[in-house]
Amino acid sequence: MTGRTCLTIVLAAGEGTRMRSSLPKVLHSVAGQTLLANVLSAAPAGPQTSLAVVVGPGYEAVAKEAMRVRPDATTFVQRERLGTAHAVLAAREAIARGADDIVIAFGDTPLISVETFARMRAPLQAGAALSVLGFHAADPTGYGRLIVENGRLTAIREQADASAEERRITLCNAGVMAFDGKTALRIIDKIGNANSKGEYYLTDAVAIVRELGLTATVIETSEDEVRGINTKAQLAEAEQVMQARLRKAALDAGVTMVAPETVFLAADTTFGKDVTIEPYVVIGPGVTIADGAVIHAFSHLLQASVGKNASVGPYARLRPGTSLGEGARIGNFVETKAAVLEAGVKVNHLTYVGDAHVGAGANIGAGTITCNYDGFDKHRTEIGAGAFVGSNSSLVAPVKIGSGAYIGSGSVVTRNVPDDALVVERSEQSVREGWAKRFREMKLLNRKPKTG
Ligand code: UD1
Ligand code: MG
Repeated sequence: MTGRTCLTIVLAAGEGTRMRSSLPKVLHSVAGQTLLANVLSAAPAGPQTSLAVVVGPGYEAVAKEAMRVRPDATTFVQRERLGTAHAVLAAREAIARGADDIVIAFGDTPLISVETFARMRAPLQAGAALSVLGFHAADPTGYGRLIVENGRLTAIREQADASAEERRITLCNAGVMAFDGKTALRIIDKIGNANSKGEYYLTDAVAIVRELGLTATVIETSEDEVRGINTKAQLAEAEQVMQARLRKAALDAGVTMVAPETVFLAADTTFGKDVTIEPYVVIGPGVTIADGAVIHAFSHLLQASVGKNASVGPYARLRPGTSLGEGARIGNFVETKAAVLEAGVKVNHLTYVGDAHVGAGANIGAGTITCNYDGFDKHRTEIGAGAFVGSNSSLVAPVKIGSGAYIGSGSVVTRNVPDDALVVERSEQSVREGWAKRFREMKLLNRKPKTG
């Protein structure tokens, strides 16, 4: 953006008591990404920008999440929650360092886009002291209302302080504001707390700008982009909006989904070409799906990568650390975790593969379990390329199955198996000819006729 420096301050100190949760509000997720991460990844980034995040006391987890997403962020603590203007001033030091644009965003407004941040900054370059993001709310209850007189923004009135007439206004404050750095601190320092909540409202900046004879402008956007989240119901609404966006982006990128409305994606899901996702699939964060792969119905994937032309499900669960090679097949009721399955591996039914490496082309029969946990530690299973593990085998880790080896069905394998060997670990089958027939005859003979 035309060489102007920019400081973004994201407010994330609110208690969010209406979420009725022990988790700080901004750490709730939409599309597998925290509200805070959503905002921080849209906020201005790159050279000439700096980022401050205001957190509440004891909110180490919030500060940690901020640093994870944006290592360039500085966190500031707002000791008491005295309102949004008070929260901004917790980052006074950052503001005082000076920037051409000072953008304020809320950590609880996760659907905001990069483009909107850029649009907000444009009026500052044209001489405005403040630009405010506004939207028409279907139900404006709870939002600050934008008071526009003769086409000019003159004030923002919070719900609690608005008159009945003002409450009918549907043009609302989205919460994002951009201040011209030259006057920002002077304006915010003037904000008082003479309102029904006794809070320092950032929204009062608009009236102050006007008193100073400066200009405040409104940049409008759609309600969907600026849904503020104060309740679990609003969190669910934001999720819907986000999912609609992600599904559309996936369809636009060529993913085939016959019932996209039943498929849940994460903000970071990546797809190759000609991917098909059948109905009722849930994809959590950290999933990549390569060209030509098919995810069949009712599958659940989290932190997993699916190779080219691989097939997953129906009813499969890929847990973190799963990596499927080209053409690998994971069938129904199969669970994988921390498992690398090389190209062409088949695990078609009712199996658990955890903490394992499976070489190319190996076939794992129905009901096979890698017994990876002894109640204390996790152990690894190595299965060589081209091995054949018969159905209902238990592979007690740590254990290695050599490449090309055969494991007879029902074996409990506790020791390493050499390449190309056969292991059968079960008791000898005993057959007693005619036993069943004799058994039935004896039973029928002894059956006494029922009396009385
Ligand atoms: C705020 C706006 C309202 C706007 C709405 C949009 C004010 C006074 N009101 O109301 O005009 O329509 O957002 O969603 O600005 N926070 C702090 N410290 C505080 C108070 C809040 O860090 O002392 C943070 C919260 O974590 C949150 C954000 O500021 O991320 C907004 O606070 P919130 O309490 O959600 O304000 P709203 O009532 O939603
Ligand atoms: Mg809010």
